[in-house]
Amino acid sequence: MTDFRDQTTARGIVLIGAQWGDEGKGKVVDLLAGRCDAVVRFQGGHNAGHTVIHDGETMVLHLLPSGILNPGVECLIGNGVALYLPQFFKELESIRQRGVDPAGRLYVSPDCPLIFPSHMALDQARERHAGRGRIGTTGRGIGPAYEDKAARRAVRAGELFAPRAFRRRLAAALDLHNFMLEKYYGAEPVNPKRVADEWLAMADELRPLVADVAARLETLETEGRAVLFEGAQGVMLDIDHGTYPYVTSSSTVAAGALAGSGAHLAQLREVVGVVKAYTTRVGEGPFPTELQDEVGRRLAREGAEWGATTGRARRCGWFDAVAVRGAAQRGSIGSLCITKLDVLDGVDPLRICTGYQVDGGKTDVRPALMNRYAECVPCYEQMDGWGGSTRGVTRWEDLPQGARAYIERLEALVGLEACIVSTGPAREETIIRRHPFDS
Ligand code: IMP
Repeated sequence: MTDFRDQTTARGIVLIGAQWGDEGKGKVVDLLAGRCDAVVRFQGGHNAGHTVIHDGETMVLHLLPSGILNPGVECLIGNGVALYLPQFFKELESIRQRGVDPAGRLYVSPDCPLIFPSHMALDQARERHAGRGRIGTTGRGIGPAYEDKAARRAVRAGELFAPRAFRRRLAAALDLHNFMLEKYYGAEPVNPKRVADEWLAMADELRPLVADVAARLETLETEGRAVLFEGAQGVMLDIDHGTYPYVTSSSTVAAGALAGSGAHLAQLREVVGVVKAYTTRVGEGPFPTELQDEVGRRLAREGAEWGATTGRARRCGWFDAVAVRGAAQRGSIGSLCITKLDVLDGVDPLRICTGYQVDGGKTDVRPALMNRYAECVPCYEQMDGWGGSTRGVTRWEDLPQGARAYIERLEALVGLEACIVSTGPAREETIIRRHPFDS
């Protein structure tokens, strides 16, 4: 095992979203997977929607690591992922239909908490019940599944192989779920026997895929393999560090990569934060730089800003350097990957949020108290847009001067270099200024 203090040989990169999710991580993971031996999911569940374009065909992955389309790349689902098995098998089937064979290179931790239909029913009933106070969740049962995990009543993937105990533990969990569904929310209960039968019917197909992910990561580390940890959602949606309560229920910061997979800290070389060249958010909650004008509609249109999981329209706004700088600190981010630069082609002038007006004064850090955050009025710095197109540009020198100046300004404000700039949805529409797996 590598010594804690000697990270010169570390070959693990963590890639996380540094905004409110939907930063385009799927494409970047798919791109970087070409240079690595394994990709690991460590948190979230099928609330994620990672869009990957493969041989001209668009594919949205919710649970499978986005490296799965690269033959030869091992894909691991760590203990931190909340696993909805019907979606897992549906995605497996769909990649097999595209001629991708995951046999012998896809493994799932037995410690993943399972998501059941009652978690989804609870998530949806709660949102209905909350009315205007809703979070705007994806309705995938993520919150209730992580609640069960923290309350130590989750049923985990490995339990499927002891059917009698599985039925007993599932019945106990569903007993509580159904009590809440019927008595508190006035919603339909979920039939425990039907769920148990349906899940146990998947056990045989799951069995060969179950492996000790932490042990596998140790082996990969010992062999000096390059491993990419694929975050879902983004730091601003982190359960502790995000815009609580308008967050998801997992740790989206880089530390989540360790807790959610069992990897050794010394395996990590660098954390790359993915950001859009502007900002989007889906669901409820404060969003200081949100635009409700024609510019916002233009970003939504040009950026095709609707959710990959729920199809909901995303809220759009200017790049918020305060939010990203805070996310970089909390997420241990060492460099940026800036996506969707091309969406800003022709937008003139451009604005970047450099601080907030709040409580009668100006601040350049996010207020600690969330009720203050909702009151923040952004302070903007203005820049000229650029003429010409950045779409598909692959070399930094070929970008219009104004686009380079914009990226350099974001780097200066956030205090981090942009090692990758994405100029279109396809793998090759990318400028790699420094490859994270080099150096
Ligand atoms: P949940 O994760 O379904 O509980 O939703 C909680 C919040 O996280 C909501 O605002 C969702 O819109 C947001 N969210 C969850 N997953 C994603 C994602 O993959 N991209 C963007 N937002 C997400």
